[in-house]
Amino acid sequence: MSLLEVKDLQVHFSTPDGDVTAVNNLNFSLEAGQTLGIVGESGSGKSQTAFSIMGLLAKNGRTGGEALFEGQQVLNLPERELNRIRAEKISMIFQDPMTSLNPYMKVGTQLMEVLMLHKGMGKTEAFEESVRMLDAVKMPESRKRMDMYPHEFSGGMRQRVMIAMALLCRPKLLIADEPTTALDVTVQAQIMDLLNDLKRDFNTAIIMITHDLGVVAGICDKVLVMYAGQTMEYGTTDEIFYKPTHPYTIGLLESIPTLKTEGAILPTIQGNPPNLLNLPVGCPFQERCTHVMDSCRQQMPELTHFGNGRQRSCLWQPENLTGEA
Ligand SMILES: Nc1ncnc2c1ncn2[C@@H]1O[C@H](COP(=O)(O)OP(=O)(O)OP(=O)(O)O)[C@@H](O)[C@H]1O
Ligand SMILES: [Mg+2]
Repeated sequence: MSLLEVKDLQVHFSTPDGDVTAVNNLNFSLEAGQTLGIVGESGSGKSQTAFSIMGLLAKNGRTGGEALFEGQQVLNLPERELNRIRAEKISMIFQDPMTSLNPYMKVGTQLMEVLMLHKGMGKTEAFEESVRMLDAVKMPESRKRMDMYPHEFSGGMRQRVMIAMALLCRPKLLIADEPTTALDVTVQAQIMDLLNDLKRDFNTAIIMITHDLGVVAGICDKVLVMYAGQTMEYGTTDEIFYKPTHPYTIGLLESIPTLKTEGAILPTIQGNPPNLLNLPVGCPFQERCTHVMDSCRQQMPELTHFGNGRQRSCLWQPENLTGEA
C-alpha cells in the first residue's frame, strides 16, 4: 500500500460565471520517504491539488475522486478527523510564512502550543522538543530565538520556523507549496538542502510544489507536470529530465537557465495559459504547442498510462516514447 494514492482527483469551483474545473483527473502515488514534485505555471492547479488533500478548499470548491492516505480516503472528511490527520500525519508549508505565523506571539510559544495540543506534552518537554526541532532546521541560537517574535526573524529564518513547525509532530507527509519563492537564491538553495536532509533524517514523504522545474531536480524522485489542471506528463525525475515526451515539459526544460546559457537569450514558452472558464476544445496547451496538429484541436488527448508508471496526455509521438501499457 502506498503512503498516498491519488486517483482521478478533481477540484471544481462554482463561480458566478460558471463551473471551473481547477484540477482534472489527476493520478499519482507516493511512498514513505519519497518526494514528488508538482510543476506547472501559475493557475495550473498545483495549490488546489494540495488544498483538496488537506481539506482546505474554499467554500465554493468541491472534490471528486480519491486521495487515499495509508489506505484511508481523506477527501471530504469531517473537520474533527481532518484536524487530527492534518497535525499528526500530513502537514503543509505555505508560500508566505507570515500567513501562518501569529505576529503577536513569540515563536517559541507557537511551536510549543502545537506539541502541547497534539502530543499532550507538558511545558518543559514541549520547550526542549521545540528547541531540538529549531536545531534540526539549523536555526542559529535556537534557545534565544524561542523568546523572539516572528518580525525579528529574516525571511529565510521564518521559513525555517515554518518547516520546524510543520515537522514538530513528525508527519509522514509534508506538502511544501512554493516554500522558497519569496526568498533569494542562496537562501532558496539552503532551504532545499535542508528539506533534503530532513527527508533523510525523518523519512518524511514530501510533495514539493513549484513553478520551476530546476528546483525539483535536486530533491524529487518523481515529477508531475500540470497544465490547466491536467496531467501533461508524470514520471521519475530522470525520465522527465532526460526523456521528456511532452512539448510542454520540453519547453519548461529549455527555459531553465544553465551556466551555458548565461548571457544568451533563454527560450521561453510563448503565450499564456488558457482561461479555465473558456477552455478550447481539445488539448489546453494547443495554442502554445510547437508540435500542434489538427487532431489536437478536436479532442483532448487521453491520459495514457505506461508500464513503468509513467503517464502522459499528448497526441504527438516523439521518437523516445516506449512501453505504452
Ligand atoms: N475559490 C475559487 N473559486 C474559483 N476559482 C478558483 C478558486 N480558487 C482557485 N481557483 C482557480 O483555480 C485555478 C488553479 O489555482 P491554483 O491556486 O491551484 O493555481 P497554482 O497552480 O497553485 O498557481 P500559482 O503558481 O499561481 O500558485 C486558478 O485558475 C484559480 O483561479
Ligand atoms: Mg499556488
